[in-house]
Amino acid sequence: MKALVLSGGAGTRLRPITHTSAKQLVPVANKPVLFYGLEAIAESGIRDVGIIVGDTADEIMAAVGDGSEFGISVTYIRQHAPLGLAHAVLIARDYLGDDDFVMYLGDNFIVGGIRDLVDDFRQARPDAHILLTHVADPRHFGVAELVDGRVVSLEEKPQHAKSDLALVGVYLFTPVVHEAVRVITPSERGELEITHAIQWLIDRECDVRSTIISGYWKDTGNVTDMLEVNRSVLETIETRVAGTVDATSEIIGRVRIDRGARISGSRIVGPAVIGASTEVVDSYVGPFTAIGECCRIEDTEIEYSIVLRDSALTGVRRVEASLIGRGVEVTPAPRNPAAHRFVLGDHSKVQISS
Ligand code: G1P
Repeated sequence: MKALVLSGGAGTRLRPITHTSAKQLVPVANKPVLFYGLEAIAESGIRDVGIIVGDTADEIMAAVGDGSEFGISVTYIRQHAPLGLAHAVLIARDYLGDDDFVMYLGDNFIVGGIRDLVDDFRQARPDAHILLTHVADPRHFGVAELVDGRVVSLEEKPQHAKSDLALVGVYLFTPVVHEAVRVITPSERGELEITHAIQWLIDRECDVRSTIISGYWKDTGNVTDMLEVNRSVLETIETRVAGTVDATSEIIGRVRIDRGARISGSRIVGPAVIGASTEVVDSYVGPFTAIGECCRIEDTEIEYSIVLRDSALTGVRRVEASLIGRGVEVTPAPRNPAAHRFVLGDHSKVQISS
């Protein structure tokens, strides 16, 4: 069995973070979301992984390399335009050959991995097996309608959804799907939808099975969701101090401090991670916070937030429920005149407390 991992796409929903970074590399607890997927694939015993890349190919290739760090062997497949998930299957035809495969969307996060699912699929070999999850707003997803536990219809991002069961971005297929992706036509958004390909299989009475899971996240552009997935992963990290902590600092609970990080005069209450080579000086870092690599947090209080690499927060009290991108600087404004001063990139969102 092979895996096909989709890592193209523009990532408009997580702007401004994805203006400068591939959406699959957005970190959850300081690790790109894509890496969790690759680890889950490796853990399920699959070695051959095709990664579909688009405009952000260079960045994805630099991050993943040949896959050996994950225990997989990666082949990159270039998709020249984001023409849909079924289009990705179409262009991967030669790579996939006549093998069964799991298609994994690189911006999806699934708690607990996919090993059992892949094992079951290997045993039973239905034509396709999809994952579903209950969501609050199904309009952002493909939506399944089930009757007596059987999938009877699928709709892509419907205005009026027939259920709250969203298609999760992990699909298992036998080669019969290649026939389906060849015959479907583009949707209204101009894409070849995998949802339509699976509907085609259902219409031909192929064996399409489903499993409902919990513990699922994707970037619906909702920062609240992202903070929440960050929180749940931080709860599982192992305490480890590879950096240095001075005698005036206090580390409480589940905290990981990566190599080269320096903590002085500060209090860190976990679960939290402090990235490699980051300095935390005279500050408070509260629960559910992930600070990336090479940051500087000084005279600041921050909690329930994500800070990406190379950013600096100095003299800021207090930051909560925030997602801060790479190379960002946050400092107090001069006292006079008392005014906010912003240099905000396109699609930034700011909430001020005054
Ligand atoms: C795609 C699929 C959708 C599925 C979702 C899961 O949406 O088209 O059916 O629910 O992935 O991530 P897209 O990422 O293209 O918006």
